[in-house]
Amino acid sequence: MLRVTDLKKGFGSGSRRLEVLKGINMDVEAGELVSLMGPSGCGKSTLLSILGGLLEGDSGEVSLGSFRYGTKTPSQVVDVRRSGVGWIFQDFHLVERLDALDNVAFSLELSGVSSSEAESRAMDALMRVGLADRMNFIPDQLSGGQQQRVAIARAIAGSRPLILADEPTGNLDVKSGEEVIKLFKDLCANDGLSVLMVTHDPMLASMADRMLLLKDGVTAASDIRSAWGIEEE
Ligand SMILES: Nc1ncnc2c1ncn2[C@@H]1O[C@H](COP(=O)(O)OP(=O)(O)O)[C@@H](O)[C@H]1O
Ligand SMILES: [Mg+2]
Repeated sequence: MLRVTDLKKGFGSGSRRLEVLKGINMDVEAGELVSLMGPSGCGKSTLLSILGGLLEGDSGEVSLGSFRYGTKTPSQVVDVRRSGVGWIFQDFHLVERLDALDNVAFSLELSGVSSSEAESRAMDALMRVGLADRMNFIPDQLSGGQQQRVAIARAIAGSRPLILADEPTGNLDVKSGEEVIKLFKDLCANDGLSVLMVTHDPMLASMADRMLLLKDGVTAASDIRSAWGIEEE
């Protein structure tokens, strides 16, 4: 589904050059929830940005379904952002003035879906994440966990095969964080979505099908014991 081959990325030049990704090789299968851990500043968000078509790598390849990119500029991968990946952020990124339904419908409309179609797809997505009774609430009227579920509805409403979640539980209490991970697991197992999730919480990371550790510019398989070790660094 997703395959990353020898992906490299650095920032700056000359003596200020910083090599962040030094040859990332990883796969995510369809229907798989993979957690990505690693020390602060190791390049997790940089990796997600390249996978999501927001940033170009220096070399290497990303293949996602029929898309081939990795070193293409953001303007060359509009289709990846439109139909390849959905994003979930720590701080939800919802439009404060729009209710849950319009938050989801709005982003579909931006990608060219008609208003009536967007509304019906948004309703389906909100029902899927358990917010059928909250569709007309604005973000302020929702708990953090509910706001994150609106963001998840928005990410899945476009039928994108891969969800990239950058510290999705960072602003949530323990219980809401667990519920978000359970929802991801459900979406992977029953809707065939794939989720790549960055988290600092070893307990949440270990709920995934598989854990990856990004360290010194490369990824490696990780287990729960080393995950607790990362947290202590
Ligand atoms: N646009 C940029 N310009 C220069 N340096 C950057 C840029 N983006 C990220 N970095 C640097 O790359 C490293 C990795 O950052 P990041 O991917 O945000 O790490 P993480 O998400 O793992 O905490 C950090 O040292 C950061 O300062
Ligand atoms: Mg980050």
